[in-house]
Amino acid sequence: TSSSPHTPSSSSPPLSSHFIGRKEDIVKAGRMTKLVNGCRDILVLHHQGRLHAMDMRCYHSGGPLQHGDIEEFNGLLCIVCPWHKYKITLAGGEALYQAVDDPTAKPLRTRWCSKGVKQRIHKVTEVNGDVYVTLNDSSEAIESDVYQTERYRTNSLKA
Ligand code: FES
Repeated sequence: TSSSPHTPSSSSPPLSSHFIGRKEDIVKAGRMTKLVNGCRDILVLHHQGRLHAMDMRCYHSGGPLQHGDIEEFNGLLCIVCPWHKYKITLAGGEALYQAVDDPTAKPLRTRWCSKGVKQRIHKVTEVNGDVYVTLNDSSEAIESDVYQTERYRTNSLKA
C-alpha cells in the first residue's frame, strides 16, 4: 500500500548538499563551476558517464582546472591543469608524477607515482536529473584549500 505522496528519502538530495545544476546541462557542457555555500569554488565534471567534483583551483598555484583536459595516466583518469600540466586524479584528488628509476640509464625508464591527495574532492549526488555536491569537510588540510580565499576568487574573476 504505497499511497504516500511523499518522495522516498532515497530520491531526496542529501541534507547538507548544494544544488549545482541540471545533469543534462553539465553533460552537454562537460563541466560546470559554482560557488558553493558562499565560500568554495567547485568544479563538477562529467566524463565517460560519471560525475566528479573537486576544488576548482589547482593545488599547485591556483590554476583554473575548469579549462584542463581529461586524460588517463597509469590507468587513472586525471584532470591536467592548463597552467603547468600537473595531473590530478578525478577519483581521489591525488597528484601523479613520473619518477625516473635510474637517471643514468638509457633510455630513461620512468614510472608513475603519487604525491598523495592534494586536491579536495567532493561528493556528487544526482536526484531526478538534478546534480548536488556535498562538500568534503574533512578537517585535515588539503593543499587546494589554500586557493579558496577571497583573494584568489577575485583574481580569477578578473582573469
Ligand atoms: Fe596547476 Fe601549476 S597551477 S599545475
